[in-house]
Amino acid sequence: MIRAHLTVDPHFAVGTIDRRLFGSFLEHLGRGIYDGIYEPAHPTADEDGFRSDVIELVRELGVTAVRYPGGNFVSGYRWEDGVGPREARPRRLDLAWHSTETNEVGLDEFATWLRKVGSELVYAVNLGTRGVQEALDVLEYANIAGGTTLADARVANGTAQPHGIRMWCLGNEMDGPWQLGHGTAQDYGRLASKTARAMRQIDPDLELVACGSSSAQMPTFGTWEREVLEETYDDVDFISCHAYYEPKGDDFGSFLASAVEMDRFIDSVVATADHVKAVRGSDKTMQISFDEWNVWYQSRYNEVDRITDPQSWPVAPRILEDSYSVMDAVVFGNLLISLIRHADRVTSASLAQLVNVIAPIMTEPGSHAWRQTTFFPFAVTSRLARGEALELRLECPTYSTALHGEVPLVDAVATHDRASGGTAVFLVNRSETTEAALEIDTRMLGAVSVHEAHTLADDDVHARNTKDDPERVGLVTNETVTIQDGTASVTLPPVSWTVITLRSEQAR
Ligand code: AHR
Repeated sequence: MIRAHLTVDPHFAVGTIDRRLFGSFLEHLGRGIYDGIYEPAHPTADEDGFRSDVIELVRELGVTAVRYPGGNFVSGYRWEDGVGPREARPRRLDLAWHSTETNEVGLDEFATWLRKVGSELVYAVNLGTRGVQEALDVLEYANIAGGTTLADARVANGTAQPHGIRMWCLGNEMDGPWQLGHGTAQDYGRLASKTARAMRQIDPDLELVACGSSSAQMPTFGTWEREVLEETYDDVDFISCHAYYEPKGDDFGSFLASAVEMDRFIDSVVATADHVKAVRGSDKTMQISFDEWNVWYQSRYNEVDRITDPQSWPVAPRILEDSYSVMDAVVFGNLLISLIRHADRVTSASLAQLVNVIAPIMTEPGSHAWRQTTFFPFAVTSRLARGEALELRLECPTYSTALHGEVPLVDAVATHDRASGGTAVFLVNRSETTEAALEIDTRMLGAVSVHEAHTLADDDVHARNTKDDPERVGLVTNETVTIQDGTASVTLPPVSWTVITLRSEQAR
């Protein structure tokens, strides 16, 4: 038995949790849009061709914002292809995913879908094959009420009210040699700065995101952020981070500690941004938009899924359709813990992605939709992580990993909502073999009672939900939780994710 001890004190707040931390990402990639959210012939399709069963699941997931339309896709995308009468829209090669883009869904349809879902649109502009003018055009089309050719075109296309998009990504992963239009950090930084300044001439209050590194393993990592921010510091509000994790062979010990790497990634980007701030003598603090994160079996994509035949450009191919295990979901839940404990600097994030493509929600055409294992930690964290993230004192044994060195066996973060007095504690046991007995010192919270306690675990850590067995894995109530004399006690199974909520007795 692992013995661990946690102290929760609401006086030690890290920062307020921005609801945008529970954002996601939908790209024109594989079956994310077509046969994902949009399937006009599906029995649950609504008047706009969107699957109602998927809308219900996205609502249940608690996604607060959705980044769109890419991803790598955006770096070759012409936004105007996706607006206006459907029958006149061109079919185009999508070079990023070696597919055919039919343009049946574009900006207006996607904004309509998001209104149904109740979530905010975060729009990425193409700074790969395009530049300042096209970014200005799409901003004018989307956000100006009327009276210009572009704004009136949106009205004529059926959307009378402007979309009011607040947050804009200036390109995607421009540090990656695979990206259309990839160049040096200076090239990109200057283009992003020019684009940002031009967009602010339309609306100074936009929130703008410059591209950081597409992973902490990029050879330019660190230097890229510094050089981009040297060009853009005064013009943007966020620098982005992207990170995907997968086990290397059967080194599950390292995989289970992926959040340690995410912590280090965030800390490094914060340090780099603050270096630029100090050199410039700026009083502005750069925020981080962690706008792609997940478990992704990228090795499988490269070995199995990748389409290369120059004559084959399929529509909505089944690619990047990873099936997630219990262990994947535990790692995933731990990544959410990492994001929350950096709430002071990470104020926006996007789970990549949302439907079918490395996604918490899967669909079959003409058939059902189901929740992957990763659905559960996301939905519960989005629902319960409210108010401020707290700095915790956690004492527990460590274990050695090949990739991250010596790491704690248990990880935790807590949130506290001053308004309601409610506290949520999110926990992970990374041990592959041993239960953890955790004691939580709750005395600084005053009189509290346990309200909810859910755990994701399974005797088979590789168990997953599938088309044929869609409810194999789910959350269970953790029956081991007790609270007495200011100490809550709970047992965390091996390879598990848990949430406990505590309700203030005074607030009842
Ligand atoms: O999410 C899949 C891809 O991963 C995105 O298109 C790209 O930005 C990243 O490399």
